[in-house]
Amino acid sequence: MPKGRPKRMTVPRLRAAKGGVPLVCLTAYTSPMARLLDPLVDLLLVGDSVGMVIYGMPDTVGVDLETMIRHGRAVAGAADHALVVVDLPFGSYEASPEQAFGSAARVLAETGAAAVKLEGGQAMAETIAFLSARGVPVIGHIGMTPQAVNMLGGFGARGRSPEEARRIAADADAVAEAGAVAIVVEGTVETLAEEITGRVAVPTIGIGASSRCDGQILVTDDLLGLFPDFTPPFVRQYAELAGTVRSAVSAYGEDVRARRFPGPEHVYAAGDGKA
Ligand code: KIV
Repeated sequence: MPKGRPKRMTVPRLRAAKGGVPLVCLTAYTSPMARLLDPLVDLLLVGDSVGMVIYGMPDTVGVDLETMIRHGRAVAGAADHALVVVDLPFGSYEASPEQAFGSAARVLAETGAAAVKLEGGQAMAETIAFLSARGVPVIGHIGMTPQAVNMLGGFGARGRSPEEARRIAADADAVAEAGAVAIVVEGTVETLAEEITGRVAVPTIGIGASSRCDGQILVTDDLLGLFPDFTPPFVRQYAELAGTVRSAVSAYGEDVRARRFPGPEHVYAAGDGKA
């Protein structure tokens, strides 16, 4: 391993990060982006948000297992530092622990990812225990669970009422006790995310949750400002790439129309030796 290069993130190292320096996590769906992000983050999630970000779907419900495997393979093949985790999509794991094992085994075997993530709390505890006992590391996902959008009626924050907060805290306990190696806590009130982080023994990874979680995750395209029309309230945009793309493409358009592109350096001449 080259000098100074951080060690590869593994599932045991992820678990050991509980209470330490917060884990840096981002989504990736493609090989070039995975190569860029890999040295900079601890965990790359091939999220089912791929459906919305790459395929323009209105939500994640229509994403299928083949899509996750295709993108999972692209990302895992490009990463040699971060832990690569692939989402199990809606409909690929809820029917039974056996169905979940079949899907998870395909994901791990066909992509090279190290773990899967699935949504749900107490209702998924048996499945998480089943997978964990059979060598499948599972990251749980509780709070605002986007695959349940049709039941929840939208993507708004969860845990505002004491009753719902109690249910989400119980979800966290159930998922952790079932053997999840980490838990994504999404879109919950801050105090609840802090309470959950304090009570479970595994790392919590927050999104729209709290800076006190054991790690943070964002959709990379949100962080980069590639969705100018809508930015969720919990996103901090670290770049405004939509504007950069617009000005680069309009400069290209002007050059093409004025015949300034391609220039002499971009064309081939007989005997110029260019490859
Ligand atoms: O699909 C996804 O990108 C996710 C993260 C937002 C946590 O599940």
